[in-house]
This record gives sequence, structure tokens and C-alpha cells, in this order.
Amino acid sequence: MSDEKRQVSRRQFLNYTLTGVGGFMAAGLLISPVRMAIDPVLKHDEGGDFANVGLEVSEITSDPQRVDWSVDQVDGWYESEVSRSAWVYRNDNDEIVAFSPVCKHLGCVVSWEGSDDYPDQYYCPCHDGRYYKDGVNVPGTPPLQPLDVYEQEERDGMLFLGNIRPHEEA
Ligand code: FES
Repeated sequence: MSDEKRQVSRRQFLNYTLTGVGGFMAAGLLISPVRMAIDPVLKHDEGGDFANVGLEVSEITSDPQRVDWSVDQVDGWYESEVSRSAWVYRNDNDEIVAFSPVCKHLGCVVSWEGSDDYPDQYYCPCHDGRYYKDGVNVPGTPPLQPLDVYEQEERDGMLFLGNIRPHEEA
């Protein structure tokens, strides 16, 4: 092979250079949109689904108490802060129970002893729905299912609540 054939012409050199630079720039332009497109997939939730609700486990008694907290909710590319509430108490087996306050009739918010007429019950003011202390709906009132319960666990003496699931006695 002669030296002449090995030499790169000026035209070839320019072609190689421009192709390389162009490719590099195109890759740079594509990285951002691709990264944005798959960003939710790349993020991993370090805290799991549980949130610290700011209540010490030692403060939980047999009297239901309301706790309110907020969680960051990610819906695809949209992040927002969502308020959550629960009614928390210790049952007769000394187990911690956290009920969702959302009425199982049409979704209003129930309150423990929310009506003077029905002490020791959760009361929904929308249609006089009622639930016993264990979350079971009072027969003859509009709700047809018990209150949902939060998954819960204790971490460093604090109560953490997670996802909502149906009441076991439902
Ligand atoms: S929404 Fe609670 S009783 Fe109807």
C-alpha cells in the first residue's frame, strides 16, 4: 500500500471531523429529553410507602386520636404534597390500629364521637353514618363496609403509617 493511499484528504478529514462533532452534539441534545422521559423510572423511593405521622407510640391510648400529616405524591412527572389523616388507638389486644377517616358510604370524613347522640362511635355527618370503635359499620346506617385501615409500623418509637387496605373483618 502506497503512502499516497494512506493519506487522508482534506475533504475526508473535514467529513470525519464534522460527522464526529455533529454526532456528539446530537447525542448531547438527545440525552436531556431521554433522561426526562425515563426520570420517574430511575427514581427509587428511599422511605418506602410509610410516613412518620409525628406521633410517639407511647402516646397512643385506647382513646382514638386524630393524626394529620402530609406526603409527597409523585404522579408520573407531577409531584405534589397530599394531606392524610387517621384515627389511631390501641385495641383490647394492645395492638395499634389506624383507621382511614374516609366514610365507606360516599367518602365524607368521619370523626370519633362526632355526635353527642352516639358516644364511643365514629360519626359521619353527611348521612348519619356510624362505626363502632373497631371500625365496623353500625348496621342500619348508610355505610355498608368497615373503615379502611392503614398499614402501620413503629420506628424509633414513632408511628409510621403506610398504605390503606380493607378492614380485615370486612
Ligand atoms: S358519606 Fe358517610 S354516611 Fe354518607
